[in-house]
Amino acid sequence: MKIHMCNILGARPQFIKYFPLSRALDNYEGALQIEIIDHLIHTGQHYDYRMSETFFAELGIKHPDTHLEVGSSTQGEQTAKILQRTEKVLTDVKPQVVIVYGDTNSTLAGALAAAKLGIPLIHVEAGLRSYNKTMPEEVNRLITDHISTVLCCPSKKAVNNLRKEGFTNIYLAGELFDRSDFGLEDNGATADNPLTVNIGDVMFDALKHSLPLAEKKSNILNELQLTEHEYNILTIHRAENTRSPDELNALMEFIQEVTGERVTVFPAHPRTKKVLNSGNIHLPSNILLTEPLGYFDMMKALQHSSLILTDSGGLQKEAYWLRVPCITLRRETEWTETVEAGWNILYQDYTTELPRSATHPDIYGDGHTAEKILTIIAHLFMSN
Ligand code: UD1
Repeated sequence: MKIHMCNILGARPQFIKYFPLSRALDNYEGALQIEIIDHLIHTGQHYDYRMSETFFAELGIKHPDTHLEVGSSTQGEQTAKILQRTEKVLTDVKPQVVIVYGDTNSTLAGALAAAKLGIPLIHVEAGLRSYNKTMPEEVNRLITDHISTVLCCPSKKAVNNLRKEGFTNIYLAGELFDRSDFGLEDNGATADNPLTVNIGDVMFDALKHSLPLAEKKSNILNELQLTEHEYNILTIHRAENTRSPDELNALMEFIQEVTGERVTVFPAHPRTKKVLNSGNIHLPSNILLTEPLGYFDMMKALQHSSLILTDSGGLQKEAYWLRVPCITLRRETEWTETVEAGWNILYQDYTTELPRSATHPDIYGDGHTAEKILTIIAHLFMSN
């Protein structure tokens, strides 16, 4: 049996989310006794070497079958270009199922292209909500969820968010789907009766697999002259934090207060670098500005850090899995479980105590999420 699928990627976190699936395709496909033919589309939303190519090389991800080369533009124009070019590719390739990841413009545009062609759509990282529609990401995930055929949620909470929005076809009442549980066909999944399933977080697969490799391969602590547990990691890239020098300066004041003299490594996203280069930003002297780090370097740097300050979604979870306290540089977070578990705090709630807890529940699955995605494909779309 053969299934043709198409994966749509465009931004840095999506390369990382796809990586476990590409490994599962190599290692697990045989167990399902099917052949999955994967057409990989790179939209070109991220195009700098350090934001894109380096991840393909490092993680051994195959070369994209199609590169759409959309580059940067406004929200609407970028989304429109991806939609237009993806529709053409999907029309030519005719996949039986399309997979999109997360909440970027590439996610939304890829989802729209598939849904309008009537191709079953799997959304990986479904059900996340910040309840702040001024974020482009919130708009992207809301629409993507509501046109998906299978909503793969990273947690029970994400399933509950969807339940509140009227999704009723919920597998195992939102309990974690086990690979050996094969009752999926009974529930079924169609555009009008989409299936919601808790499969855990695919970024946990990526981290579990990569940590030992990162430990061996990465020399980042020596390169940056860092001492284990005596430095922090900082990332900032969200539109709301980088719109103007004033917003970034206000954040820098807070960061200086929290980090004091401790070295704080700041791998700057290109969007952030542009604001920094405007010359109007006061960077505290303990900040060590670097280029964006590769995945293994980032994993190793995070693992040995003492505190993570970030407005990224992925880093909040990585901090949790690595048991490093995290301060989220946003007014709200989609990853509320990490806050409730006592390992993450929103910056306006921070006083002097770093978030740390004696307990550490498994809120985001078991690290076998990618195999579950393939199981879902094999059981739901094989006969389509
Ligand atoms: C996008 C996602 C965000 C995700 C992030 C991960 C959307 C709406 N946002 O944000 O959810 O967390 O990726 O990094 O899709 N740029 C470069 N080189 C690059 C990429 C971007 O210079 O390789 C610059 C461009 O000038 C662009 C700006 O960065 O205008 C922002 O890029 P964009 O793709 O719009 O969004 P991100 O901030 O990367």
